[in-house]
Amino acid sequence: MKLFIYYSSTGNGDAVADFLQQKGVHVRKVRPVKELPEAFLLRMAVGGFQALTGKKAELADFDPDVSAYDDVIIGSPIWAGNLSSPINTVLDRVDLSGKRVSFILYSGSGKAVRAAAKLHKAYPDAVIRVLKEPKEILNKKEEAAAEN
Ligand SMILES: Cc1cc2nc3c(=O)[nH]c(=O)nc-3n(C[C@H](O)[C@H](O)[C@H](O)COP(=O)(O)O)c2cc1C
Repeated sequence: MKLFIYYSSTGNGDAVADFLQQKGVHVRKVRPVKELPEAFLLRMAVGGFQALTGKKAELADFDPDVSAYDDVIIGSPIWAGNLSSPINTVLDRVDLSGKRVSFILYSGSGKAVRAAAKLHKAYPDAVIRVLKEPKEILNKKEEAAAEN
């Protein structure tokens, strides 16, 4: 059984979750007690600072138990080249030992060089995929399917 644990602030991670759910993957979205501010510059400043300093955001109603799953996929947006602060908490609190672990990272550029390098060090066996704004791609796919 596979579980996708992820965070999404603007819907890209949600698009991945919908896609995976249709394939039978269980999904668990985490929510920080305090979401990023709405205003763009403030979002970038607050989120960027949190990510650069490795902050572990406090999560609301988080269930860290993954004992029912063999495969755990972790999904995070890239903030200032790093993992998002809610996913730092997930990696801190979830016991991934003995699991097949993989990562799906989503970013504006489609790149996540620093985050991927850090993850590769910490989880040498994990597959790491980086997607560019999957919301746009997956939504287009759905529209195309609806037209057919
Ligand atoms: C605070 C913040 C920092 C970001 N930093 C980067 C970055 O360094 N590189 C990049 O390619 N995209 C960056 N982005 C864009 C997001 O990674 C991208 O839009 C992602 O798909 C968002 O996922 P979500 O919609 O699930 O929240 C940043 C977004 C935010 C809010």
